[in-house]
Amino acid sequence: MLAIPPLAALAVLLTSVRGLNNGVGRLPAMGYDTFNAFACNYNATSVLAQAEAMQRHGLIEAGYKTLILDDCYALRTRNASGYMVADPSKWPHGLPAFSKQVNKLGIKLAAYGDNGYETCAGYPGSYGRELQDLETWHSWGMSYLKYDNCYIPADNVTEENMFGRYQRMSNAIAEFAAKRGQDPFLFSLCEWGWEQPWIWGKQISQAWRIDGDIKPYWSAIAAIIDQVSFQYWSSDFYGHNDMDILEVGNTGQGSPPGNLTYEETKSHFTAWALMKSPLIIGTDLTNATNQTFEILGNKDLITINQDPNVGHSISPFRWGINPDFVSNSTHPAEYWSGNSSYGVVFMILNSQDTDATMFFNLTESWAIRAGRQYSVYDMWQHKTTGMAVRNLTFSLPAHGVAALLLKDAGPEPEYLDGSCGFYYQCSWPNGTYISN
Ligand code: GLA
Repeated sequence: MLAIPPLAALAVLLTSVRGLNNGVGRLPAMGYDTFNAFACNYNATSVLAQAEAMQRHGLIEAGYKTLILDDCYALRTRNASGYMVADPSKWPHGLPAFSKQVNKLGIKLAAYGDNGYETCAGYPGSYGRELQDLETWHSWGMSYLKYDNCYIPADNVTEENMFGRYQRMSNAIAEFAAKRGQDPFLFSLCEWGWEQPWIWGKQISQAWRIDGDIKPYWSAIAAIIDQVSFQYWSSDFYGHNDMDILEVGNTGQGSPPGNLTYEETKSHFTAWALMKSPLIIGTDLTNATNQTFEILGNKDLITINQDPNVGHSISPFRWGINPDFVSNSTHPAEYWSGNSSYGVVFMILNSQDTDATMFFNLTESWAIRAGRQYSVYDMWQHKTTGMAVRNLTFSLPAHGVAALLLKDAGPEPEYLDGSCGFYYQCSWPNGTYISN
């Protein structure tokens, strides 16, 4: 497993930039959400089966400990006192009892709500009833809220824009926590990236969706990665770009049914983990394949996602097929790197529909020290595969990925005298150029 060099860890800790620090959501959330696999068609039996499968396959132990009941868990109308009512046909023993049942497995239930009059599927929205609904969710053992953006009040009602409308619940969460003397709800915004939440989200929440609903096709995955190539800077401790619920496992199933290949699914999970997105499972685990469990349970990638000392996302150092700094949802940036407590992280993605040879100079990455050699640990093969001196070349299948951890292995061999690996302007002390 990966070990932390203590001094390096301390240095990055001291230089990190943080978001809203109210004590919750320091690291990306990990859990399960009912929406991608089941939409509205779930109940106590099917959700419990997910929790049990998570336990059986070691996913709870791997860190997936939150279970979000997405849209459709309630009755369409509130009771006479204005409280939401859990749908008794879905939860015959009530949600407090169901909550305790999953707690025994090491999982906590989480809530879904909406900023407006109704949720996206037409269930009660929380506008004007923020504190009352927090009370209900709390009574159901929940302390995490995904908050949607359907059926919102007209401009002249709130005289607030996106930030102000989401701030209502953020304030209610703070008030509720102060009144009860307990930790605030983790607040996860879902306004689909309409109004640049990567800029303001961290002032009032711990996570913000950056895009509309994910789909289980490569075009959707590539488009989200393209978007993060311009927004990666926003994620750090206590505030994360939410790239949406995972589609891992939905090949041939889910709604709509997916068609991601094994390579595409690995690329999907690698990107979400290394870009520090919440990792939220969205497939029916009762009939998932071993490959699905292998991908969701990739300990090396989870370890980077949950790095306790380095909060930032990987960032692109070269786009590859596409010109640098130009958005292209078919060919997102291919060459990414970042720091971690365990070494320098690289994600190399082949955005092409055919096998491709990938090449990069180590010092193209800001996180690499020049003049050093690095051992190369492959986070999909889970082993050290060789040594990197100056550059790396390898081939990747269509839409395939390499997730590498480069660990400093001392000065590079002496035969590589004074030249610079990547940049020109490399000079002898007397002012003559070495390499150009
Ligand atoms: C929106 C959200 C989804 C899901 C559905 C539920 O579309 O973006 O993630 O919560 O609503 O209806």
